[in-house]
Amino acid sequence: MPIVDTDIKNKIIAHDRAVPRYTSYPAAPVFQAGFPAETVTNWVDVLPQNSNLSLYVHIPFCPKLCHYCGCFTHITSRYAPVEDYVHLVRREIASMGRRMQNKHIVTHLHFGGGSPTMLVEQDFRLLMDTFREFFTFSDQAEIAVEVDPRHMTESLAMTYAQVGVNRISLGVQDFDDKVMQAVNRVQDFDVVYSAVNHLRAAGICEFNLDFIYGLPYQTVRSLTRSMDYALLLKPDRLALYGYAHVPWKKKNMRLIPDEALPDNGARYDLFMTGSQVLEESGYRPIGIDHFVRDHDDMAQAQDSGTLGRNFQGYTNIAPDALIGFGVSAISQYPQGYAQNTTASHDYQEAVLHGDAPPIAKGYAFKGEDIARKAIIEGLMCNLQVNVKSIWEQYTLDPERLQECTSLLSSYIAEGLVSLDQDGLLVIPKAARQIVRIIASCFDEYLPPIETAKRHSMAI
Ligand SMILES: C[S@@+](CC[C@H](N)C(=O)[O-])C[C@H]1O[C@@H](n2cnc3c(N)ncnc32)[C@H](O)[C@@H]1O
Ligand code: SF4
Repeated sequence: MPIVDTDIKNKIIAHDRAVPRYTSYPAAPVFQAGFPAETVTNWVDVLPQNSNLSLYVHIPFCPKLCHYCGCFTHITSRYAPVEDYVHLVRREIASMGRRMQNKHIVTHLHFGGGSPTMLVEQDFRLLMDTFREFFTFSDQAEIAVEVDPRHMTESLAMTYAQVGVNRISLGVQDFDDKVMQAVNRVQDFDVVYSAVNHLRAAGICEFNLDFIYGLPYQTVRSLTRSMDYALLLKPDRLALYGYAHVPWKKKNMRLIPDEALPDNGARYDLFMTGSQVLEESGYRPIGIDHFVRDHDDMAQAQDSGTLGRNFQGYTNIAPDALIGFGVSAISQYPQGYAQNTTASHDYQEAVLHGDAPPIAKGYAFKGEDIARKAIIEGLMCNLQVNVKSIWEQYTLDPERLQECTSLLSSYIAEGLVSLDQDGLLVIPKAARQIVRIIASCFDEYLPPIETAKRHSMAI
């Protein structure tokens, strides 16, 4: 069993509720439908020359559905829809590239999904060629791909290396047979081991492993063993995500029997278990779910106070804008967010017949949004933030801040957070799992508890 402070554990569990994961503020359910594409094109046009850009491209296809999956994806055994999609995304990239006139510098490109590894090598090269034709990449640009280890081959790894991919995130989830069978994802250690070897042999050495705690039939013992296996692969980073169970939104999650899911006390123990194994092996915790080696860029970003959070989770790269391509992709500009349509037909129509981005939803920052965003991001990244200095920086009404901090009183009384005279809010390391709940005290748009079925539980 992990070493757990039972008092803190019980207090945290008692506060568990459904809150956002705060990969954005406001959270995506607050974005407005029918947001005008012209507003977004205007945001693009006023981005200053030489701004740093992060690019994201969403590949919404997988050959087989994992029952826990919360990502936006379609299951297909045929390649034709993937090929058609690549054609559309290349048009979208070209259209945005023409609008941006090569005035900016790309410091980060991320292929996410779904499964980008569904793309045949020729299509992956075509996408990379299109990005390079329309955008200028910095020499040190990070080019990252989310990899399903079951798809990795020696040849695919070579292709990735040849086109400049230098970071990989491998979806592992767990190594336990019973757990993986229950979620429809049978994937032996050997499969992951050989994927890592192919990538390392091709010269791609920076890699992250994704794990999930809270999956059906997971136990402290099984997760400890899985973490031990993970350590054999010597990843630079490891993510240990809390399983976000939202069966009212994602039908595939209904295939997981409720009685097989760990309750919130067991989830707490599972996270503590993973955390302890990793920390004892020299990994440093970052935010709510990442663990990295000391030499890693993310550890250095944490030390220098530049760690950020975006739709892909934590990032050591702080771009001026994030531009998303493909269905459901979200972009972030200094003025707000824009989300592409999730409807394939609408996406196709917009990309083939218009020159505005295929937007379905968006959000323009207003009022106290930017200050609240800075507070929430500070908490999610560093577990501490000076709320008063951020509020003063934006010359906002102190009474409005008082309304938020008054929500903290029970957490302060229980020792789960402290707030000093100068406005420094600190969550002790032992209470790390309360972070999303403390952050939600600064969320102006949080729905009341009884209508909170938008989000997963916090613990
Ligand atoms: C797009 S997938 C990764 C690439 C590839 N599709 C794969 O699964 O190997 C991104 C990651 O999201 C995480 N994930 C997916 N559904 C989740 C859920 N419901 N709760 C928490 N994490 C989840 C998994 O760890 C997964 O590796
Ligand atoms: S977890 Fe990855 S492979 Fe599984 S269905 Fe989701 S996106 Fe596809």
